[in-house]
Amino acid sequence: MLQLSTLEALRNTRTAWANEQASVAFVPTMGNLHAGHLRLVEHAKTLADKVIVSIYVNPMQFGANEDLDSYPRTLAADMEKLEQAGAHAVFTPTTEMVYPRGLAEQTYIEVPAISDILCGASRPGHFRGVATIVNKLFNMVQPDHAVFGKKDYQQLMVIRLMVADLSMPVIIHGVATERASNGLALSSRNGYLSAGEREQATAIYRTMQSAAAALQEHAPSVSEEHIKTIESQCQLQLKQAGFTPDYVSIRSQRDLGTVREGERELVILVAAYMGKTRLIDNLEVSL
Ligand code: PAF
Repeated sequence: MLQLSTLEALRNTRTAWANEQASVAFVPTMGNLHAGHLRLVEHAKTLADKVIVSIYVNPMQFGANEDLDSYPRTLAADMEKLEQAGAHAVFTPTTEMVYPRGLAEQTYIEVPAISDILCGASRPGHFRGVATIVNKLFNMVQPDHAVFGKKDYQQLMVIRLMVADLSMPVIIHGVATERASNGLALSSRNGYLSAGEREQATAIYRTMQSAAAALQEHAPSVSEEHIKTIESQCQLQLKQAGFTPDYVSIRSQRDLGTVREGERELVILVAAYMGKTRLIDNLEVSL
């Protein structure tokens, strides 16, 4: 596995692959890799001849009071996992390389509307940071395919819209969320939780499952009123499990808009705090 830490090294490798006419699938990550990330690498291997993974904790997507400094950095262990998973290269840029002029005057990508709802409402500027770094990484890596987890459902939609709006020559793939046997979605932020809190956190999955069952009871046509009732019940369940819910929202899978009459492809989205740790999860429901 190649370890590429400069843009020059990345470009040389990319040129060599292009000369071999090898197709390239890209998995952008912030490191601290778990089985969910490795599932993305597995999927990437089915899409292209070469798989490249980036590891970069992107300051532009963290708010002032968020966990940029404490975000887990585990490069040596990540490298081992990627080697075993069969990635062909790992790209590890530095902030000096990514944002040489600093963040204050950095050119950015803003995907309007979608970036301001749900997680975007609670984390202003977050999706601008995500769209900008993903755009920059795409320009650096020039992949044919890029693979993202569906756990970050809204992020995936922001990226799909950016790619469509800017006619970017890359195909975006979403991969199902990897869960522990107790239902907890794998996330680097689970590492902030104690063993007891991790057990408590399984309430998110149970809450979404009961919401899905309640939606199915009203299928095929779920009214706005039913949706509001189910969302409130979920909030209550999460509070009883020790969470401070940020939002529970049932939306359209198509555009994350509110559910229109007769709409059958829905997604239940949850963001909730266990202490200071903010967890997100989602569950798609087909009525
Ligand atoms: O999902 C993530 O890990 C990050 O948001 C991403 C896509 C690597 C951009 O920094």
